[in-house]
Amino acid sequence: MEENSKPSFYITTPIYYVNDVPHIGHAYTTIIADAIGRFKKLAGYDVFFLTGTDEHGQKVEKAAVEKGMTPIQLADKVVIRFKKLWEALNISFDYFIRTTQSFHEQGVQKIFQKLKDKGDIYKGIYEGWYCVSDETFLSEDVRLENGGHKICPDCGKKANVVSEECYFFKLSAYQEHLIAFYQKNPTFVRPQSRMNEVVSFVRQGLKDLSITRTTVKWGISLPDDPAHTIYVWFDALHNYLTGTGYDRDMKLFEKYWPATIHLIGKDILRHHAVLWPAFLMAAGFPLPKTVYAHGWWLKDKTKISKSKGNVLDPHIILRSFGPDPLRYFLLREIPIGLDGNFSHEGFIHRVNSDLSNDLGNLVQRVLTMTTKYFDGKIVDIGAEEAEDTHLRNGYESLKKRVYRYYDKYSLNRALEDIWTFINSVNRYLADNEPWKLAKDKTQKKRLGRVLYQSSCALHVTAYLLYPVMPESAEKIWRYLGEDRSPGGESFSSIEFDGLKSGQKALQPEPLFPRINLKDFLEEEEKTQVVPAEEEKMEFIAFDDFKKMDFRVGEILKAEKVEGTQKLIKMEVSIGTENRTMVAGIAEEYAPDELEGKKIVVIVNLQPAVIRGIESQGMLLAADVDGKAVIPFFVEDVPAGAKVR
Ligand code: MSP
Repeated sequence: MEENSKPSFYITTPIYYVNDVPHIGHAYTTIIADAIGRFKKLAGYDVFFLTGTDEHGQKVEKAAVEKGMTPIQLADKVVIRFKKLWEALNISFDYFIRTTQSFHEQGVQKIFQKLKDKGDIYKGIYEGWYCVSDETFLSEDVRLENGGHKICPDCGKKANVVSEECYFFKLSAYQEHLIAFYQKNPTFVRPQSRMNEVVSFVRQGLKDLSITRTTVKWGISLPDDPAHTIYVWFDALHNYLTGTGYDRDMKLFEKYWPATIHLIGKDILRHHAVLWPAFLMAAGFPLPKTVYAHGWWLKDKTKISKSKGNVLDPHIILRSFGPDPLRYFLLREIPIGLDGNFSHEGFIHRVNSDLSNDLGNLVQRVLTMTTKYFDGKIVDIGAEEAEDTHLRNGYESLKKRVYRYYDKYSLNRALEDIWTFINSVNRYLADNEPWKLAKDKTQKKRLGRVLYQSSCALHVTAYLLYPVMPESAEKIWRYLGEDRSPGGESFSSIEFDGLKSGQKALQPEPLFPRINLKDFLEEEEKTQVVPAEEEKMEFIAFDDFKKMDFRVGEILKAEKVEGTQKLIKMEVSIGTENRTMVAGIAEEYAPDELEGKKIVVIVNLQPAVIRGIESQGMLLAADVDGKAVIPFFVEDVPAGAKVR
């Protein structure tokens, strides 16, 4: 199908705070989104998958001070941790947004201004209880404790009274619109129980919402009233618009907005199901189709979170087992919507029994016998008998059910059903005993049929598992001698006997080696001695450094990029040619003080399009508290000279 004619499917995760390193809870949402996105691609959709980081606000500001860093330094550091984790987990996002990117900041300012012009935002005085940890004002009905203070019902921390001049959003004016919207769209919030919760919350009455702070500096300020910083949730929620091109690439934006599904944890349901649609209604955008709230992963009955001090670092599991066991465990163990308890015993039991015994051994046995009895060739010989047809038919109905489960986001049901099929293949082998057939020359055709049927079953099983376990699915296909990738095949095209006769299979490495609990716990203990923040500097090889081509560049011309605050467009001579470059330095340097200056440029970096301008190189600058400081040459050096 042509990319353009495919229906679009836009899926998002929350953008994660950068006040600390990612844990299993963050991994969970992102893995669900990845599995759904991968399935939708197989099902013929044009998928856009957005994730990213929420970098502004008091929480990040505070964490940075505690660590002796500037907020942007902390953000830069933690973002790397998130990106590395997503890479290790095989997360196939299309865009990673950071709320400190200038296009996002400008997009938010623009929408804020629009609501202000329309009268939906007005100035007033706010006094209320504020939870710094959750960046949220407590609702009035949270009771006063004996000491005369309030406790945040979500995180259990003490809240502070905040009184300040601020801008308000007229949330109260949207109460009836929201109720009407929920009535017309009863599946806007899923699961259903959460929809009921939202409706009764809104029915109790909505008050106007304070959406700027003068006490918080780390955030997007209002261009015409810079003492005010935009409330971090107003800022963050709009990532779903700016991340898919709003105000930057409207064609892309119009292709994907409104979002098909915002996947979130139940902790941030009201922000997404009440505030977000109200902001969107006010600004005149179409509303997202679904907000899906999943449950929490708990450890010893307590939510896994930084503030509870019980975070689990997924890296330990990933280093030992790769991405698929964790992806499988998290998606198989609980339906999306319920809470789950994470224990190492539970994880290891699942991996050993489902992955290692049921699936891994099956792959190993079928391919070892193929190597031994047919010189590694998959052969389609021998007539199909009733039980062979039974396996084929089993797949035909399984495929339909699995499609429906994935489509309803019942990922655990899809996996359960696939496992029933895997076990039926194991039974088929046990019943037909190919190792015995191999001893009787007259049974060669029957042996071929049994192995062919089993290989076909593995081929389609791997395909059905692909959304959840992409790496293992690819491996199984490769072992079966497939030169295609499961991720590139449409759901409707996968038939049971898709393996070509004569195709050469490979002798596989064990897919999921069994885990020994004791060894695993010892390994984990050793690893946890290294505190997360003491991460070692990563060295690159000299050969990698040599690949970077740094040159002296002479700035011939410089001008501000229209409609932006931070960007300057430059014409830079690098000796052999002139390059156009765009840099975020307009707040620190005026265009005319740049002209004639000589700087260091990396000239072999892939060009990037910034605000519609192709930037063909990047200048080097120091980052001092988030401000750029450019090293200029004081000696007279020729443009184009190599810097090394
Ligand atoms: N920055 C906000 C979200 C803004 S979205 C416009 C935020 N960030 S967060 O870092 O605290 O991440 C919250 C999300 O992480 C939850 O909604 C959930 O998706 C995931 N989880 C964090 N801890 C979790 C568990 N223990 N269990 C499951 N998911 C959890 O809130």
